[in-house]
Amino acid sequence: MRIASTWSFGLRANEEAWPHLVSEGALAAVEAACAFADRAPDIDSVGYGGLPDASGRVSLDGCVMLSPARCGSVAGLRSHLHPVSVARRVMERTPHVMLVGPDADAFADAQDLARAELLSPEARATYEKWLREGGTVDQSKDSGLGFEPLRPVDRRHGDDGRLFGGSDGVPADEARWKHHDTIGCLAIDARGVLAGGCSTSGTPFKVPGRVGDSPIIGHGLYVDPAAGAATATGMGELIMGVCGAFLVVESMRRGASPLDAVRDAVERIAKTYPLEPHHQAGFIAMGRDGRVASAALRPGYRTAIRDAEGARAVEPDFVAIPEV
Ligand code: GLY
Repeated sequence: MRIASTWSFGLRANEEAWPHLVSEGALAAVEAACAFADRAPDIDSVGYGGLPDASGRVSLDGCVMLSPARCGSVAGLRSHLHPVSVARRVMERTPHVMLVGPDADAFADAQDLARAELLSPEARATYEKWLREGGTVDQSKDSGLGFEPLRPVDRRHGDDGRLFGGSDGVPADEARWKHHDTIGCLAIDARGVLAGGCSTSGTPFKVPGRVGDSPIIGHGLYVDPAAGAATATGMGELIMGVCGAFLVVESMRRGASPLDAVRDAVERIAKTYPLEPHHQAGFIAMGRDGRVASAALRPGYRTAIRDAEGARAVEPDFVAIPEV
């Protein structure tokens, strides 16, 4: 049994998910891990606490996957907090894979899923500061938030896995970039069942209607019991052009190790795009045997792992552009 989640906040998500992995299995575990991140107001790129789009409204995307024939997805939720739970119902209770926009919220209502306020006071204040200071959706420009570029980089975590608040104990180069990104979560249970989930509020101050990689099957998440599982985090536009998660799983299908598969994916991104300093992307791969590897385009990404040996946040096994 093992669960692996993106970023250091994944440590807390994994702890929440572990009892579900033990008692209910991989699908319940990834749903619980993503729901934890959705609820945590200090995670400003997922769920409540997520930064809004350029209109000041939060929208949430997510998906869940057991196999190519068993997956569900939602994009553009504006009044329900848990995209993975809505996506699971799409998978289990409809003949479809993906629902979007107001109709996805209406579907969640019909499933008796509770409505929720998504914009936290802190996220509203950050948005208002961004507006006051000129508001630009081009994140390569000064965001007005006092740190530039707006690149997702993990803050240093303490021994207990909690992130330090403010800049205490945070190296200067990391403190400037305080945003994390999507939670992507992969799990394998005692029966050897693989599952994956992904939840995000997308890029801060995005053009309203923008959808990134996270809810798109094969981009932010792909699971095939015959080959393995992969999830992505970082700037969706970089991941979508290479079908990132699908690319990783297809490499494993052809015999690549999880490490070779994630290395190939970030190298593909590095070769494909004219990269800017704010660009970041990371992948986790999980083999059919539960072996995990991760890679990132740049430093500052970590993978949280929980298994019988305990909990840990590990540096990526490969970084394509090692310079900060
Ligand atoms: N990776 C999350 C997004 O780009 O929306």
